[in-house]
Amino acid sequence: MSRLRIGVLISGRGSNLQALIKACSAETFPAEIALVISSRTEAPGLGLATAAGIPTAVFLHENRRDFASAAGPLLAERQVELVCLAGFMRLLDPDFVEAWGDRMINIHPSLLPSFRGLHAQRQALAAGVRFTGCTIHFVRPELDSGPIIAQAVVPVHPDDNEARLSARILAVEHRLYPFIVRLIAEGRVQILADRVEIANGRAPDRTLLNPQDQADDPLVSVPA
Ligand code: GRF
Repeated sequence: MSRLRIGVLISGRGSNLQALIKACSAETFPAEIALVISSRTEAPGLGLATAAGIPTAVFLHENRRDFASAAGPLLAERQVELVCLAGFMRLLDPDFVEAWGDRMINIHPSLLPSFRGLHAQRQALAAGVRFTGCTIHFVRPELDSGPIIAQAVVPVHPDDNEARLSARILAVEHRLYPFIVRLIAEGRVQILADRVEIANGRAPDRTLLNPQDQADDPLVSVPA
């Protein structure tokens, strides 16, 4: 089986990177991590990559064009086919996005297009939404925008603070990211007229209320 070669771009903790490393460690997983690039020397994610035997590079360039000039050739040299942004905190050069956009995905901790940018969980709490979640999307030049591939919904609890809500969302991110990389590696994800179609993708047929109506019946069936 030839595996999709992915490059992961990080700036920090790297827990999504770790979820991808774990998924790729299964022999049957159709992708492998060919390269990890960090924009910060002290990013803990770098240690995770090294421990897993994955080549790493650090590019500190503040200037977007300089970052692209350094990262682009290395991604090509490592024959990367899909770039996964995972907590990457730099804006990307528009030409780099143009070149990679349909082969570059990002994970964001909100249900886009709500709460773009920094502190998405804090924004959700401030807005008083009852549900938030995370989104994986193809990357376009505007911040946290691009065709949406998948979303996961997470309830907001009455006593939530930013840390608790972030942790609840993060746990779901770790499930969603490897799943979507697998679908892409299987060739099931296509952009058509700027919307994403997933071959044999199934949507859930149940919905959630928040607050719940009856404590023992959180799931409500909806007509197909
Ligand atoms: C995640 O919440 C992700 O959605 C956002 O940045 C955070 C990265 O966390 N883009 P980690 O570095 O993967 O732990």
